[in-house]
Amino acid sequence: MYEKIIDSSIKAIKQSHSPFSKFKVGVALLTRDGKIYTGGNVESSSFSLTVCAERAAAVKAVNNKDMVFKAIAIATNSDDFEFPCGACRQFLSEFSDNMDIVLVKSRKEYRIFKLQNLLPHKFKLKKKG
Ligand code: THU
Repeated sequence: MYEKIIDSSIKAIKQSHSPFSKFKVGVALLTRDGKIYTGGNVESSSFSLTVCAERAAAVKAVNNKDMVFKAIAIATNSDDFEFPCGACRQFLSEFSDNMDIVLVKSRKEYRIFKLQNLLPHKFKLKKKG
């Protein structure tokens, strides 16, 4: 079902710029319209400025007015399934909290979660006035 984004996420590991942690993350974000945006984490020597791969890809999509996400596949250079950080869960959820999160270990080994289940009780800004 998600073979294409799984493959793309593994390829996107090459996009990672991670000279400090050496932890490479590659993602492929699938939109409602069937478009795929890839991303890699981009680290800064001022560590807190680092941008995760998930947000790098989401920003590309949103700047292109693709605001509804179906799924994101997340691959890394570790030998494990790696979950998205809390900040990325929140960021993605503001566009599509019903999306699938596909954790990729290899082409054949992956696990699928609903974002809602990974981020219950997300922050929501209440409208004023
Ligand atoms: N990282 C991601 O790209 N996504 C996550 O969800 C968690 C962490 C990156 C940030 C940093 O470059 C490296 O992984 C180690 O934290």
